[in-house]
Amino acid sequence: MSEAERSGPRPVEAGSVHVVIGCSGPVGIELMHQLTAQGKKVRGVCRSGKSEAPEGAEIIAGDIAVSEESAPLCRGAGVVYSCVGVDYSEWMEQWPWIVNGLIDGAGTSGAKLIFADNLYSYGPQDGPLTEDIPLTRFGRKPALRSRITEELLGVNISGRVRTALVRASDFYGPRTRNAMLGERVFPMALAGKPAQLLGNIDQPHTYTYVPDFARALIRVGEDDSALNQIWHVPSAPARTTRQVVETIYKLAGQRPRMRVMPNWLLTAMGSFNPLFGELREMSFVWDRPYIVNHDKFVQHFGDDWTPLDEGLEATLNWYRENS
Ligand SMILES: NC(=O)c1ccc[n+]([C@@H]2O[C@H](COP(=O)([O-])OP(=O)(O)OC[C@H]3O[C@@H](n4cnc5c(N)ncnc54)[C@H](OP(=O)(O)O)[C@@H]3O)[C@@H](O)[C@H]2O)c1
Repeated sequence: MSEAERSGPRPVEAGSVHVVIGCSGPVGIELMHQLTAQGKKVRGVCRSGKSEAPEGAEIIAGDIAVSEESAPLCRGAGVVYSCVGVDYSEWMEQWPWIVNGLIDGAGTSGAKLIFADNLYSYGPQDGPLTEDIPLTRFGRKPALRSRITEELLGVNISGRVRTALVRASDFYGPRTRNAMLGERVFPMALAGKPAQLLGNIDQPHTYTYVPDFARALIRVGEDDSALNQIWHVPSAPARTTRQVVETIYKLAGQRPRMRVMPNWLLTAMGSFNPLFGELREMSFVWDRPYIVNHDKFVQHFGDDWTPLDEGLEATLNWYRENS
């Protein structure tokens, strides 16, 4: 057990700490780096208590889903950011407890709660995704994400906590391994092996760069007029997944090679493999144009996204140094 685990959070002045729950995932780590670079006091929390945290960040082991832990984990917070991610196999069971813990923890400290979200609660759509699309009742995971949205916005009305949801598309970037543009693409490109992809790779798709996601979380967290709302992270204009992967191989100095699992095979495999079963429900993300509109964010905060080639180059460099 580490010193931090034994002693709990360091004593702090109320409202001075930026608490990042989910501090060992790519979004949580990037967020902590950006916050400490701005001179903020940062506490990262995850169950393992292990993180590639920046110098100066306090890291403690804790489970936000355990009700007795949530308030001490968030003590002294001015902003609590949720960067929590859960394996598909545990989604239905874990998320309700995690959301309860986030609301209790942030509420007890009087902190704002900024929730790093995905786009599942829009369900299958034919046009660009905008923040005002009604919540879906489709499927298990999208419908659950809709209930979470209702709960997180509802607590503003009841006055329990002030919240905002910041939504990103499928992301890529340094430390992002488990994603469509992750460890099955970048290291493959560097090695000249085929990228492993799924779905229809000829549909345009918005990809969000993780540092852009972290920057958007901070900007929403520091602006009270952004609370009680949903915001889309600004991202580079959509290209097809094939075009993006071709660019990655070009930047890596390799000839593009791709191996693609089509939707029909995903559907067939979903009948006997639980992970593929979970992915099958999400096939609407990959079988049609998936374009995220970020006009609302740009009108409020200004234009702020990294060009795709620049983000891909930085991600390739990270994989070069860390493979
Ligand atoms: N993947 C995408 O393309 C994508 C796109 C848009 C939005 N998002 C959203 O972005 C968020 C962050 O994603 P990510 O990929 O950075 O996450 P991730 O890699 O799955 O990391 C999850 C983090 O949550 C922690 N965690 C899980 N359960 C916890 C608990 N009960 N208490 C405290 N910490 C807990 C994990 O550490 P321990 O296991 O040690 O606790 C880890 O630090 C997620 O909400 C995800 O839905 C993802």
